Amino acid sequence: MKDIYYIGYVDFEVRNFHGYSTHRGSTYNAYLVKGEKTVLIDTVKRPYFEYFLNNIKEVCDPSEIDYFITNHVEMDHSGSFPLILKYLPNAELIASERGVDVLKAHFHEEIGDEVFNKIRGVKEGDTLDIGNGKKFTFVPIPMIHWPDSMVSFMTDENSKNVLFSNDAFGQHYATTKRWDDENDLCEIMQEAEKYYANILLHLSGLIAKALPKVGTLPIEIICTSHGVCWRSHIPEILEKYTKWCKGEFDEKSVLIVYDTMWGSTEKVAKALAKEINHRGIPVKRFKLTNADYSDVITEAMKAKAILVGSPTLNNGLYPSVAEYLSYQRGLKPMNKVGLAFGSYGWSGQATQEIANIMKETKIDVLDELIKVKFVPKPEELDFKEIVDKLIEKMG
Ligand code: FEO
Repeated sequence: MKDIYYIGYVDFEVRNFHGYSTHRGSTYNAYLVKGEKTVLIDTVKRPYFEYFLNNIKEVCDPSEIDYFITNHVEMDHSGSFPLILKYLPNAELIASERGVDVLKAHFHEEIGDEVFNKIRGVKEGDTLDIGNGKKFTFVPIPMIHWPDSMVSFMTDENSKNVLFSNDAFGQHYATTKRWDDENDLCEIMQEAEKYYANILLHLSGLIAKALPKVGTLPIEIICTSHGVCWRSHIPEILEKYTKWCKGEFDEKSVLIVYDTMWGSTEKVAKALAKEINHRGIPVKRFKLTNADYSDVITEAMKAKAILVGSPTLNNGLYPSVAEYLSYQRGLKPMNKVGLAFGSYGWSGQATQEIANIMKETKIDVLDELIKVKFVPKPEELDFKEIVDKLIEKMG
């Protein structure tokens, strides 16, 4: 795009992003913007610093950079911050007011206080005019994704208005094609959805408050910090975020997630799936031994009901179920109905534990627990009554 240069890194190798599976890789997007003044926006993960520096040098001599904006301090964006500084003798550093503190909290061993003391901490509505009709307005968006996060909105009298959105509207999606309309929209939306579920879901209340602020800006382009940039499908991604942050979804579906030791909990899972499906309600079933919890939580975000099953092992939860529930509890899927089920031999605590954990995040869990002892008899797998109750709760 005119006067905006991509200088980030496309990471085709990454398959685990702090515990989140990135089946399609990711990108760490950074940009140079040229007006009368030159602006650098964000950096890349530290291992890719040399690549990033060379990208800058292909556009300009780094010493010509006048401003260096850090929209967010998480190290996928700021990892190269200390390294690039020595190439920027003439740049004024800019971050949100909270970003200044967070930069210091990260890089105090590498950078002296005199640098942090000179960073310009900006607040909502502060502006930066870089000439040639280009003007930035800064909008902090605390907790989307960290307390320091902000977006930088650039109006351009001679071209399109651009929102540099950092984590917001991103996708972990490695592609050398920069624009939404150059890639498969279905894949991008899948990855945007998974990104929201795994990174932003528990921040939905804050996102609901921030979206109107961002949505009223006359945005024509969104330059994200992960994945593709949006130019043709901005209304669609804004609409998706509006729905996701309210816990609204297109259909009433059921997610069944479980693990099994000797097959009995799985018999319950399959019988429940069959009964629910007989009622015309879509069901997805995940056995945690074979499933990836980043994918499962994406389904949990979309489902109306979450049914979790575990055998009782050592008087508690099966380890994979405990791990999944810990992840789900942190991400807090909204507006859900829940049901706990499982098998046991003599003590049978797992089902109550499941129910208790789900209730902690306001999931409306059925009081009834499905518990089968050792191997269930066929009549114990008749779940018509409890499915009736589940469907009633789903509304
Ligand atoms: Fe992509 Fe919160 O960092």
